[in-house]
Amino acid sequence: MITLVQQVKLAFQINSVVKTEKGVVIIWKDSHETFFDNLWLRDSCRCSECFQHDTLGKNIDLLQIPLAPKIDRVSITQEDNLDIIWGGEEQGHHSVYDASWLRAHCSKVLAQKPRPQLWDGSFEVPQFDYSEVLNDDEVLFKWLNKLYKTGATIINETPKTEEGLKSLAQRIGMIRPRYHPTNIFKLDTTDEALHKINPSYKSDRLYLHADYAAYDNAATLIFLHCVEYENPDKDEQAYSLIADGLKIAELLKEQKPEYFNLLSQEYVPFYRRRFSVQEEIPENDSIYNYQWEGYHLGHIINLDTQGEVRLLRFRSKLRAPFLLDPDKRQQFYEAYRYFMTLIEQPEYICRFLMAPGQVLVFNNRRILHGRTGYSNSLRRVVNGVAVDEEAFRSRWRILLGRKTGMSDVWLAGCSDYSLEILADRMMF
Ligand SMILES: [Fe+2]
Repeated sequence: MITLVQQVKLAFQINSVVKTEKGVVIIWKDSHETFFDNLWLRDSCRCSECFQHDTLGKNIDLLQIPLAPKIDRVSITQEDNLDIIWGGEEQGHHSVYDASWLRAHCSKVLAQKPRPQLWDGSFEVPQFDYSEVLNDDEVLFKWLNKLYKTGATIINETPKTEEGLKSLAQRIGMIRPRYHPTNIFKLDTTDEALHKINPSYKSDRLYLHADYAAYDNAATLIFLHCVEYENPDKDEQAYSLIADGLKIAELLKEQKPEYFNLLSQEYVPFYRRRFSVQEEIPENDSIYNYQWEGYHLGHIINLDTQGEVRLLRFRSKLRAPFLLDPDKRQQFYEAYRYFMTLIEQPEYICRFLMAPGQVLVFNNRRILHGRTGYSNSLRRVVNGVAVDEEAFRSRWRILLGRKTGMSDVWLAGCSDYSLEILADRMMF
């Protein structure tokens, strides 16, 4: 009988190691080479003196280690890990570094982080099954990966109840508390009172936008759960529309770089006013009165530390008076209008009907969403919740960590991309 032994890929196996004046060069079995400097290696020591194996916190005192640590001996252990005996002031201090962890921290490898998959109107929203997502961690992982790569997914066969929606969102993490008391929001075409709460609840066509633009923390994941859809006219009423904000921002950058710069550098205020609102809180059988007065000054296009587009704040209906210098206003309006036009280009908009039981889950920091208008004959009920980015990333990182098969001592503190690299290290 042949026993298959899982082994790490050649890229994660050390072929040889060379000590240099300021660090070590690792030559990997796939011929790639990585330089690690001594200070970074010394600071990253995971021995029980330098790192708390129970709390996973660093124990090392950065002020106590030399600024130019010296290596006495470097070798490869039997397990194929990097072994360093330090010299100089720290003679005899012993550090062992997991080879895979080192590979996942190679700066040349990290610099090759793949970009998200941008899409246009031909995009077919990836679909998953509610029961599978709920019961199978492997499917949950695939779903979250898709959300990361494309920004939008649909979950089918979700029980058409608030509990059904909550259970799906809670598979990822805690539901974001809303400032309007109930944590689930409801869009109901026949509920006149709702139409006064939010521009989105009216029957006109809802142009593409991002939610929570007026909140300091614009929620990341939005879940829209179709509970009812009855359309006697059988036309495209209340069809869902989504567009890839990263793609649109990229187009803007190519076509009008000066407009891109304005929208990513100038601040735009957004507001949210809701006074004298009463809502029921079924959990404790009470009515709660509250007021909300939000105002957020932000960029329409937010860039990350690498200058990549990260988050869009685009909600024309909740745009407050611009505070720009008068001499910049004209050009800013031009840029804003150009972006508005680009967003509504049909070739970039994916349109589909959300059927009862389907939940559209999308990254509100990337995907712009809207819907076609509807008439009074339509009966449509959609419930929604949001989950914050931290909860989303945390769940994804935990699942990635599990796939690596590595100990928490090495997983703690890995960047998202390092974890992705490590999750793919095993040969099968
Ligand atoms: Fe919305």
